[in-house]
Amino acid sequence: MKVNLNEFWPEYELIDCGNSCKLERFGSIVLIRPEVTAGFEPVLPYEEWRSIAHAEFVETSKNAGVWNIYKPVPEMWTINFSSGEFKIKAELSLTRSKHIGVFPEQVLNWKFIEKISPEFEKMQFLNLFGYTGLSSLAAAAFSERVTHIDSIKKVVDWTKRNAQNSGLQNIRCIAEDAPKFVSREIKRGSKYDGIILDPPAIGVGTNNEKWVLEEMIDELLADIAQIMNGKSFVIMNLYSHSMNEKFIHRLLLTYFPQHKFEFCEKVYGQSTSGNFIDHGYFVRLVKGQ
Ligand SMILES: C[S@@+](CC[C@H](N)C(=O)[O-])C[C@H]1O[C@@H](n2cnc3c(N)ncnc32)[C@H](O)[C@@H]1O
Repeated sequence: MKVNLNEFWPEYELIDCGNSCKLERFGSIVLIRPEVTAGFEPVLPYEEWRSIAHAEFVETSKNAGVWNIYKPVPEMWTINFSSGEFKIKAELSLTRSKHIGVFPEQVLNWKFIEKISPEFEKMQFLNLFGYTGLSSLAAAAFSERVTHIDSIKKVVDWTKRNAQNSGLQNIRCIAEDAPKFVSREIKRGSKYDGIILDPPAIGVGTNNEKWVLEEMIDELLADIAQIMNGKSFVIMNLYSHSMNEKFIHRLLLTYFPQHKFEFCEKVYGQSTSGNFIDHGYFVRLVKGQ
């Protein structure tokens, strides 16, 4: 599926992509960042990218790089998202990685949460690998309680600030290893109506527990299946390049045999210039009872 995220989120725009980079606008700030899936020629010349960009992240090695600043960028700025009853205020900043506090493609998941939540009374929602918590905020507007898990304390604190700035008080923020948290929830007998997970290819828990998607996703999904209510939904993003449709279908049919595939597709983000980047697989599973 191809989508122009700007149609869902006016404050975000993918202006152009190519040369393994993307040119994006977040509110009033325009950034150039690396994009592995943009290995083609951009539409606009680099001089034009350079003239409108405030900053560019240049990779110096695989997981490191520096921001070249071309115009003043505030240490922190906010962008807003709203849809129907819910409003999100997201704090953004240039971090030491190329990430700035938001994965804009997640807006598609927020729209789905908004659509499905009326089917649940007093919804209990869990966000695993939740980063700065914007999906937690999107769910909080429709839930009795949201539990937000990430292993990095700094992004959990960032989530707390985003929740406070958005006036949401029903988010329980926990810095913990996601697989460990889920196995503890099984022992505690906790149940959830909705779960979202966006696991990285490689990660690390609070106590340096190793997370390797390909090796550990099976066990995590088996555990997640045990903490779902009868009537429930699961939202999952899979970016890893070694994941194909066959592998994902096998995973879902194995661990969620009674859930229906509401959506299971690769999503491409269309730029204003007309070209595309790959946002990986989006999965939504729903079970009626
Ligand atoms: C791809 S980001 C998730 C983005 C998020 N869905 C969003 O839209 O903002 C992956 C997150 O997983 C976290 N993470 C990595 N390994 C983890 C682990 N073992 N337990 C919990 N969180 C982990 C990272 O700190 C990072 O914030």
